[in-house]
Amino acid sequence: MKKTIRDIEVRGKRVLVRVDFNVPLADDGTVADSTRIKAALPTIRFLQEQGAKIILISHLGRPKGRVVEDLRLDQVARCLSDLLQQEIAKVDECIGPEVEKACAALEPGEILLLENVRFYPGEEKNDPEFAKALSRLADIFVNDAFGTAHRAHGSTAGVAAYLPAVAGFLLEKEIDMLGRALADPQRPFVAVLGGAKVSDKIKVITNLLPKVDALLIGGGMAYTFLKAQGHGIGNSLLEADKLDLARDIMARAAERGVDLFLPEDVVATDLSSDAAHQTVAVTEIPPGLMGVDIGPKTRARYGQVIAGAGTVIWNGPMGVFELEPFAAGTRSVAEAMAKCQGITIIGGGDSAAAVKKLGLAGAMTHVSTGGGASLEFLEGRELPGVAALLDEDARECSPGARGKDGEGNA
Ligand code: 3PG
Repeated sequence: MKKTIRDIEVRGKRVLVRVDFNVPLADDGTVADSTRIKAALPTIRFLQEQGAKIILISHLGRPKGRVVEDLRLDQVARCLSDLLQQEIAKVDECIGPEVEKACAALEPGEILLLENVRFYPGEEKNDPEFAKALSRLADIFVNDAFGTAHRAHGSTAGVAAYLPAVAGFLLEKEIDMLGRALADPQRPFVAVLGGAKVSDKIKVITNLLPKVDALLIGGGMAYTFLKAQGHGIGNSLLEADKLDLARDIMARAAERGVDLFLPEDVVATDLSSDAAHQTVAVTEIPPGLMGVDIGPKTRARYGQVIAGAGTVIWNGPMGVFELEPFAAGTRSVAEAMAKCQGITIIGGGDSAAAVKKLGLAGAMTHVSTGGGASLEFLEGRELPGVAALLDEDARECSPGARGKDGEGNA
């Protein structure tokens, strides 16, 4: 585990907090979904109560190292002001003498939001000079941006080499929830995996197979498995070069005694404009039709398995859930998880969006704020934004305590 803001004296100190305010914007530029901003509030409020001087930094979108007017953080500042019921000051840069002056002038409890950090080419390149320039703004670095923790960027990992670096509450909670589920799950441990491609989920499957009791597969990736079993899949998504891999995964699951479930029926369509569709058994997918959702028998079966789970982790939709006629599979998984008495974890991205849209987020044990980050975590990879932080048992809270050359203590 990593040191957190509870383990370090922040009173009167300038604290640079990396948050993930990469939020969707509405057509008028306002924040369309403030979930990620709300998720950072416990850390911000705690730092305020402790009398820290708070400097927030985030990216928004992918401006690729140059200024993009529509991606400035002014609307984010407005949203944060509304949520905290106080005026949030914002500057139009992230580094340099003007920003340093603004940071130095902060009073305890005050908050300053910096500009979109991806306006600087040094951010994504993790340029040490850029990270050093950021470090001059503050006495302490806090990473609370779980959603960006899989990126080794200047403001997520680089700056941690130059300041005492600890985790915020959101980062701590995400790592704790996902980490505990993988390391010490209540059983039976069920993973539900969907999404378009097997290739996107290979590492997750490989990492989860030795840990889970059952693996439920849906979404576009299911058809490569069905084809590998010898079924005709019509025009459904197929990764022909992953057929051997699918066979190998099924064999490994059988060897380990993992129940691997594939759809027994699917909703198939020719994707015509009226979305005409039919439910067919997987043994009877007509040529020319494409499977776009799991069928009612599969939904019922998957629902039963989820109902009996001690822990369920879900990543990836069961079908083309953006289109209402093909959303039933994704909805049924969300509803089964909402009813499940065990630990229920939504691994971010599309599944989190689906659960939110259905109004079921509150019924889950945890909905991750990370898409790519939670996927990499489920793959068993160490996230650079976490690795760069001080270990819980590090004796000093200084960058020097982090090992040679400030290269992190991971
Ligand atoms: C996300 O939305 O997944 C994070 O904010 C990371 O964004 P990125 O994929 O542009 O690095």
